Amino acid sequence: MGIKNTSQQWGWLSKVLHWLTALIIFLQIPLGFYAESLRLSPLKMDMFVWHKSLGMLVFLLLVIRLLWRIKGTIPQSLSASGAQKCISQAAHWLLYGLMAVLPISGWIISSAANIPIKLFWLIPLPAIVGPDESLKSVAAELHHISVLVLVAVLILHIGAALRHHLLMQDNTMRRMWF
Ligand code: HEM
Ligand code: HEM
Repeated sequence: MGIKNTSQQWGWLSKVLHWLTALIIFLQIPLGFYAESLRLSPLKMDMFVWHKSLGMLVFLLLVIRLLWRIKGTIPQSLSASGAQKCISQAAHWLLYGLMAVLPISGWIISSAANIPIKLFWLIPLPAIVGPDESLKSVAAELHHISVLVLVAVLILHIGAALRHHLLMQDNTMRRMWF
């Protein structure tokens, strides 16, 4: 398996970036709800350090992924109809969009609330905006709506992957796996 994608196969770098991001996002969603549900305590602060650090890691992986994507080829979709190809492309771009909107809105929430961020307790992240209570509320609302959209699109995405694998029995799932 080469590092680069071909018109038929995903290369290993795209696969590693896809599955590492997927793993982090599956941790990140319950972690966000859990951290939010806690009362103010050292545990809550620690959970938010993990949440913010993993969320910014998703953003970093997204940037690498998009740079790699525009530099190389993408395997052709195995969907039969044009409409299905269109829906799958729209879902992929929505997922890419959400992987940017979620970290950036999260970053705005913290900055507008005047809470400094230290990624993995090590790397200080500068404030992206100044303290602003109403901006904080708007960003929190956007963050929350994006989570709901993400969950819905992921159900569609995973359902489509299973449909290709189990019903259509084509190569879609196998070529994204190792
Ligand atoms: C169990 C979970 C998942 C499964 C089974 C899965 C499966 C797949 C498969 C098979 C493809 C390749 C589609 C093709 O070759 O046409 C793919 C692509 C993709 N997946 Fe997932 N995925 C999962 C989770 C996720 C998550 C959590 C995200 C991000 C939020 C994600 C984002 C994407 C994106 C953006 C693409 C398009 C790649 C591109 O065209 O650049 N996936 N996924
Ligand atoms: C892939 C990225 C991310 C995902 C999937 C995600 C998901 C979530 C979820 C599920 C919640 C709890 C429900 C809600 O309030 O909407 C939440 C809350 C929160 N997240 Fe994220 N998040 C991500 C990135 C980030 C980042 C990078 C930051 C900060 C740098 C952040 C800061 C916050 C904050 C401050 C809250 C509490 C919001 C409030 O008090 O209303 N998130 N996130």
